[in-house]
Amino acid sequence: MRRIPWWRDAVVYEVYVRSFADSDGNGEGDLQGIRSRLGHLRDLGVDALWLTPFYPSPLADGGYDVADYRDVDPRFGTLHDFDALVSDAHDHGIRLIVDIVPNHSSDRHRWFREALAAPPGAPARSRYVFRPGKPGERSGEEGPPNDWPSAFGGPAWTRLDDGEWYLHLYAPEQPDFNWRDPEVRHEFEDVLRFWLDRGVDGFRIDVAAGLFKDESFHDLGGQNRRVLNGPMYSRPEVHEVYRKWRQILDEYDGERMAIGEVWTDGPEDLALYLRPDELHQVFQFDLQLAPWSATAFRDVIVAALKAVAPIGAAPTWVLSSHDSIRHVTRYEQPVSVPGIGLARARAALLMLLALPGSAYLYQGEELGLPEVTDLPGEARQDPIWKRTNGELAGRDGCRVPLPWSGSAEPFGFSPDRVRPWLPMPERWAPLTAEAQAADPSSMLTWYRDALGLRRRLRDDLPDDLEWLDSPDTTLFFSRGPLTCALNCGENPVRPPAGTPLLTSTPLYGDLLPGNAAAWLTGP
Ligand code: GLC
Repeated sequence: MRRIPWWRDAVVYEVYVRSFADSDGNGEGDLQGIRSRLGHLRDLGVDALWLTPFYPSPLADGGYDVADYRDVDPRFGTLHDFDALVSDAHDHGIRLIVDIVPNHSSDRHRWFREALAAPPGAPARSRYVFRPGKPGERSGEEGPPNDWPSAFGGPAWTRLDDGEWYLHLYAPEQPDFNWRDPEVRHEFEDVLRFWLDRGVDGFRIDVAAGLFKDESFHDLGGQNRRVLNGPMYSRPEVHEVYRKWRQILDEYDGERMAIGEVWTDGPEDLALYLRPDELHQVFQFDLQLAPWSATAFRDVIVAALKAVAPIGAAPTWVLSSHDSIRHVTRYEQPVSVPGIGLARARAALLMLLALPGSAYLYQGEELGLPEVTDLPGEARQDPIWKRTNGELAGRDGCRVPLPWSGSAEPFGFSPDRVRPWLPMPERWAPLTAEAQAADPSSMLTWYRDALGLRRRLRDDLPDDLEWLDSPDTTLFFSRGPLTCALNCGENPVRPPAGTPLLTSTPLYGDLLPGNAAAWLTGP
């Protein structure tokens, strides 16, 4: 019998649906593709999948622009495929979390079309945020209602021909909902029930701190434009929404859960979302933002644990996602040392999996995939790339489809001769799941071994950790019978006493080499 709710120490694997596995040969991943690869995920040893949005969408932002919250985009399959996936995943012992996008819809959503067809001031406009423009101070010429920027570049407002402006914290194709309209609230409660009734185990809530905007709509002025507790995010009203969502989740059996994508200025603000009657978890992104440094990692871990401790919430850890540069590449400094990114990624996994709480992995990290930095401009699709005119590369480099088998594109991602939606580098031939599965020294074998061992140990691991003294550039900690030693430096160090269970690089005599980690047990 497991002693705690499953999500408190789960390993959750993020499936970027469009890039996971393409069963029907349109060059984009789909639900049947995921179904066909459940064996890979079971063998890997993950507890749950988080699926990125697969709902009908023009894909102005990779599906985070939802046109219909209760259906599957034909390119990704059907509701019937979804039901079959839930059922098969459960048969494989894997839970399923879906992404819910409540801050904004697609501009093709029925409600936004109705809003556009209605005149200023009409009730159909009250589901979104429409405002009149503001005369410029010097020119007198009308400008946006305020100076808020879009996260993807440019202003957060777009003007309609009738003179009103609508708010979009992201792309213009993603109009923000007006959560002060009760209809919006009811709609999402119903959407949650729709997917819960179909058997999902939980939700990942996109832009969870958005939803409510300060009613004064005041300018940011000199304020830091990325300020996360400013007028656009973390307004107090948002917590009422999650209290209601929690009640809905609790109405269902089977430990249904929700994890919020919450960016705040400090870890303490995160805790507000984790009050016992709100969300079960929030992403704690600081590990993903930290450089390869024992001091940085330790500071992040201490702060993250401190943030959740008073309310007894479970921390979450993440190194890569569909929004960030893959960590193998992030850790590849200095570039003059071949393989250093991979060695560090192996070591980082042991740190991640030894920590209390749950780990969110991103598809492809089990293959050691690096970021694809040389995608041609014409292939790139991220609105960040488009809206900054190529000044920022955007996130396509971590979204390249997975290489499953074979020696040339599409590497088993799509049926032969189909071109995947993003080009796959020829240099990935040695990185396919097939090539790695049989290789005891591969990244895939490493992930399986580490996840398997964690599964065997986890019921004996206490919720807290104990820091052990360790030399500079290293961090050592214990959780009951398990000790984790990470050496971020270049020189070998003596690990703490104990019998090695798993090491990311073979020990050097009895020393732990640089850029390596070990799990040990007992003194
Ligand atoms: C979240 C998603 C990201 C998306 C954005 C807007 O940050 O993770 O991919 O672009 O929200 O929905």
